[in-house]
Amino acid sequence: MGRPIKRDAKVFNGESMINTVDTPDFYNYPWTKIERLDHSGEFVTVGFDDGTELAAHQWWLRESVVTDGACDPATREGTLDPADIPDDLHVTSAELDEQGSLAVVFSDGLSGRLHPGWLHHVALGQHRANSHLPPVRVWTADDLTEPATFDGRGVLSSDDELHGFLDALCSYGIARLTKVPGEGNGSVPEGLAAVTDRIGARRSTNFGEIWNVKAEIRDNSENSTANSGLRLGPHTDLPTRETPPGFQLLHCWVNSVPGGWSRMTDGAAVAAHLEAEEPDVYEALTTLNWVFFNRSREHDHRWSGPMIDLGVPGSPLTIRAFYPVRGFPDMDPADIPRAYRAAKRFHQLGADPRFEIGYPFRDGDLVAFDNRRILHGRDAFDPGVGVRHLRGTYMDHDEVYSRLRVLTRRHQSQHRLLFDSTESATKSKGVSA
Ligand SMILES: [Fe+2]
Repeated sequence: MGRPIKRDAKVFNGESMINTVDTPDFYNYPWTKIERLDHSGEFVTVGFDDGTELAAHQWWLRESVVTDGACDPATREGTLDPADIPDDLHVTSAELDEQGSLAVVFSDGLSGRLHPGWLHHVALGQHRANSHLPPVRVWTADDLTEPATFDGRGVLSSDDELHGFLDALCSYGIARLTKVPGEGNGSVPEGLAAVTDRIGARRSTNFGEIWNVKAEIRDNSENSTANSGLRLGPHTDLPTRETPPGFQLLHCWVNSVPGGWSRMTDGAAVAAHLEAEEPDVYEALTTLNWVFFNRSREHDHRWSGPMIDLGVPGSPLTIRAFYPVRGFPDMDPADIPRAYRAAKRFHQLGADPRFEIGYPFRDGDLVAFDNRRILHGRDAFDPGVGVRHLRGTYMDHDEVYSRLRVLTRRHQSQHRLLFDSTESATKSKGVSA
């Protein structure tokens, strides 16, 4: 049976916000009024005064009631194994209680209430994976000359500063910190570790968790052309993996060599250009697979995929563009000639001044970028005339997105933007949509 109503008064920027019903998460929601209610067939539909409505399937409602035997009150996770749902499980009664929550009774005897504000947030689409993330801003060299730049010391000490940095990073795919401290000592972590510790887990690879980019590294079996003074054309790292790292962070400890400028290109802009202007090239890049594999003696990572991997709808773009590890065409031989021509065209555009920006690394700079969207490279330099020492690491999208969502929700709450229906109002067709 349903738990007794719990009255839990919260203060929402000075306004009283009464939570009388537990929700299947640990957030607070405004007590939004349900204006319309309809129970028809397998769905209970609720409507709100902003025009949004939610068609909630009866089994989803059964999973979402916070009570023993449904959504666990302690963890707020579902406990109902779908295999155990009776075929005829249905809602026998759905009505608004005296406080405006949705009270439901199920055919197996369980009953409970659902928070109208929580239902409203689903109607608004704020439960989706892209929620509380900024819109993607695709850029060319006309829009951006250097990455959006933030004070590294501020990001290390202030959540608001960290929020601004991660918001720019996820929106533009690239952002920069300055004055990030270097090596650290026994009790103080190096700057790159300190910054990433503020975000989430680092992703270790066969290059280690934090690795060096330095020309004189010559005795490492995991060595790469990164550890040389050679030019590196526009590329993305580790396309040899099923899921290449989502973000890469490069921190400059010292740079005294002339040249060696970083080069960055928004691969999303190149993809959009090709889709609009050169559809045959775009089709080849998005459908023809290549086998990417690393050339290490000690590891054998390989994966097959297109150079522009659109993934499932709603998933982030994944560009696989690293010719040093692009090993074999994985396609009908008849497609190989056009696949090579498309690859050439893609890399031409990656280095095209219309798309590519360039800037030098200065001591203390930390540049973070979406490794699956932004093509990165560098100009050649002479390692004999100075020192250029970078430290790098990877993080998955999940880590950065999670941290940004938490910071964004906190920021929106502080600024009374939380669940503003104008933010992302879409008329939901139901939780299955
Ligand atoms: Fe790289």
